[in-house]
Amino acid sequence: MYRNVGGHMKPNRLATGVHRVYARIGSRDLFEGIWPIEHGVLLNSYVVQGTKATAFIDLVKDWEGAVDEVEHQLESLHLSFKDIDYLVLNHMEPDHTGSLGQLCRKNPHMKILCTKKAVPLVKAFYKVEENVQAVASGDKIDLGGKTLVFEETPNIHWPETMMTYVPEDGILFSCDAFGSFGQYDHCFDDELTKEEWDLLIPETERYYANIVSSFSQFVTRGIQKLSPLDIKMVAPSHGIVWRKDPAKVIGLYGRLAGYMNGPAEPEITFVWSSMYGNTAAMVPVIKQAIEEEGVKVHLHEVPAEHASHVLASAWRSSGLVIGMPTYEYRMFPPMYHILDILDRSHVNNRKVMRYGSFGWSGGAQKQFDPFVESLKWDCLGVVEYQGSASEADKNKIIETAKALAKSVKDWK
Ligand code: FEO
Repeated sequence: MYRNVGGHMKPNRLATGVHRVYARIGSRDLFEGIWPIEHGVLLNSYVVQGTKATAFIDLVKDWEGAVDEVEHQLESLHLSFKDIDYLVLNHMEPDHTGSLGQLCRKNPHMKILCTKKAVPLVKAFYKVEENVQAVASGDKIDLGGKTLVFEETPNIHWPETMMTYVPEDGILFSCDAFGSFGQYDHCFDDELTKEEWDLLIPETERYYANIVSSFSQFVTRGIQKLSPLDIKMVAPSHGIVWRKDPAKVIGLYGRLAGYMNGPAEPEITFVWSSMYGNTAAMVPVIKQAIEEEGVKVHLHEVPAEHASHVLASAWRSSGLVIGMPTYEYRMFPPMYHILDILDRSHVNNRKVMRYGSFGWSGGAQKQFDPFVESLKWDCLGVVEYQGSASEADKNKIIETAKALAKSVKDWK
């Protein structure tokens, strides 16, 4: 559904001898088997041609005809997979390596360059051991007028991850780092339409929260490590190429990494579940109380909304409201899933309130407390009520919501 009508896409020229070849992936599958991609995702590979040798940076997973698409784009550059001398694997996750076995069969002579930690993963995933060479930070490969310089950037995204820099053009091939969900008709930041920008920034934030957020301290460290490089262009393996303003996406990633331990933005993510309407009844009341304090609220009902969107919203918010009923002496199960996702992603140090209804017995709080402790949340109040909220419960809820909004506003 996302393919260009009438044929294959064209490669994009980043510099002399440097091109992006890529695939547009639609919304049929979940990314990593978990995250929805309603706006699709791009899988970008890059070709770097020197006078002596040709390198291919990061592969695509054979997903929705991606390998065939990339092969056609290579042909339009008068290249084929057989012409590759060096295959750079910046990162081993299969969205960037899935077609490695196919490629090795087509070109058994190319040299595979990856970090030492990636070598056993190449073997484990693809049973490939021949022609695999480990590289480390500062190592260089001379392609003839183009040099590949490697920089290990562990945990952005997996421990074995590195980036590749071409100093002659100042291009950083960053793989997952500085990437985005979504697919865009234009390749470069200076070409995007307003509609594409309106998609790109939220889809970069959601990609960050879903894929990278757990590793935020490594993102901060990685950005510091890259700071001596003269980066003229950032070319990630998902999303667009940042040619005009690479500092914009590096700065955005730096800011998002800083949200891990708070404060984030002075906003509140309000995530709620309800069985029979008694928890739902307080949603407009709380929303109004917060908005009266001038604080923006992001509302998410679960399980109607996917955790992907709740996580993206929670990541950028300094405050959280968790509304859920007790279900069989414990948390309402879909909310347990949300809290588990927030815990795995380290949405730490937030200002929080919880409220909700119970029937014959409470119990949700017992399961909520360990999350508060694990995530170092500052819980400003809990209001639980049997059946429907009384006037006194409602007043307590409003008072707590207003206190939460104030604490979020005042948190610098
Ligand atoms: Fe795009 Fe961590 O793979």
